[in-house]
Amino acid sequence: MASQFSKRTSWDISEGPLAQAIGARRAAGLKVLDLTISNPTVCGFVYESAAILETLQNPESLIYDPNPKGIPAARQAVSKYYKGHRAEVEPDDILLTTSTSEAYSFLFRLLCDAGDEVLVAQPSYPLFDFLADLDDVRLRAYPLFEDFGWWIDFAELERRITPSTRAIILVHPNNPTGHATSRAEREQLESLCVRHKLALIVDEVFLDYGIGISRPMESFAVGPHHCLTFVVSGLSKITALPQMKVGWLACFGPAGERAEALARLEVIADTFLSMNAPAQNALPVWLAGRESIQRQILDRVSVNLATLRDLGVNFLEVEAGWSAILRISQRKSRVDLAETIVRETGVIVHPGSFYGLPEQHQVVVSLIGSQDTFVEGIKTLKKWCESNEST
Ligand SMILES: Cc1ncc(COP(=O)(O)O)c(C=O)c1O
Repeated sequence: MASQFSKRTSWDISEGPLAQAIGARRAAGLKVLDLTISNPTVCGFVYESAAILETLQNPESLIYDPNPKGIPAARQAVSKYYKGHRAEVEPDDILLTTSTSEAYSFLFRLLCDAGDEVLVAQPSYPLFDFLADLDDVRLRAYPLFEDFGWWIDFAELERRITPSTRAIILVHPNNPTGHATSRAEREQLESLCVRHKLALIVDEVFLDYGIGISRPMESFAVGPHHCLTFVVSGLSKITALPQMKVGWLACFGPAGERAEALARLEVIADTFLSMNAPAQNALPVWLAGRESIQRQILDRVSVNLATLRDLGVNFLEVEAGWSAILRISQRKSRVDLAETIVRETGVIVHPGSFYGLPEQHQVVVSLIGSQDTFVEGIKTLKKWCESNEST
């Protein structure tokens, strides 16, 4: 008898038309200019390789001393990171995970039963769909709208809360819009959460990557906290080491709720004990070395943004993060814009729909890719737009 699979994994995993178009171009030996590379380890940055690798030799890693929340020294290092963001976070309120993705999964299991709902901004980072499916959680989108900056549509957000809603996810600053949540927005979100008894999950992986933002980009770890709040982050972006699989969540809010949440999370974490000892022992060293890599990434982002400005590309202002949203001018709007671009020019961009952007003429590019490829890719794209407008 053939095996039976769960409904939650019945995704359409066939290759989409964009991947096919890229594959066809590569197979034909034609040039490709990939403007979507967001893996920092292949972007030509100079890592402090010796320091990063030496710390993996720590003899402490030969001892198995399981701690569901993670070893104290690593949690203290995370607490120190927040001190740098003017936030007092008790190491006891921090739980280490093997990525922010795992932190989300722990939180979904903590807060939701099968079929419960979590609200997430649209546009936003697309991995949430899979994370929610795997934990039988239903995602409901709440809209962000663009009008000289990005804004949360609070009226619509509140309308989308149902008796099954358990939490609101906020990515601060958001990917790919680069929108950083303001103090006033935070207060509105918190009062919504208090009124509807919801938890607030704040993803701050891009917190250290503000670019020319005029107001301070404050961590949600800074109190006071009026509702149960979880801040998730990790080394994928903070130290540009996604391969090390180091993340965490920090828990805030009214004392009783916070204690209950942490006790339950500890059991979830104890069930898996997924983070290996070498990574936990290395975390303080990796985190302490973040400045040099962050400076290089911020420089790259600034240079690539300057290219967009210098070449007169129409793009949405970026406050933070590693991405930019370009507005592609064309005579008629088309759903297969990214696919057409790669087929006709070899330039790879993400379709806006990948992130839930509503406009068909918007595409997303990474700002951390090599400067040479970025300049060549953007010039090619610009020429293609101009020739399309004139035909
Ligand atoms: C907003 C956001 N959160 C989380 C992640 C992934 O982080 P991790 O590698 O820790 O799972 C990403 C990766 O791009 C992201 O954009």
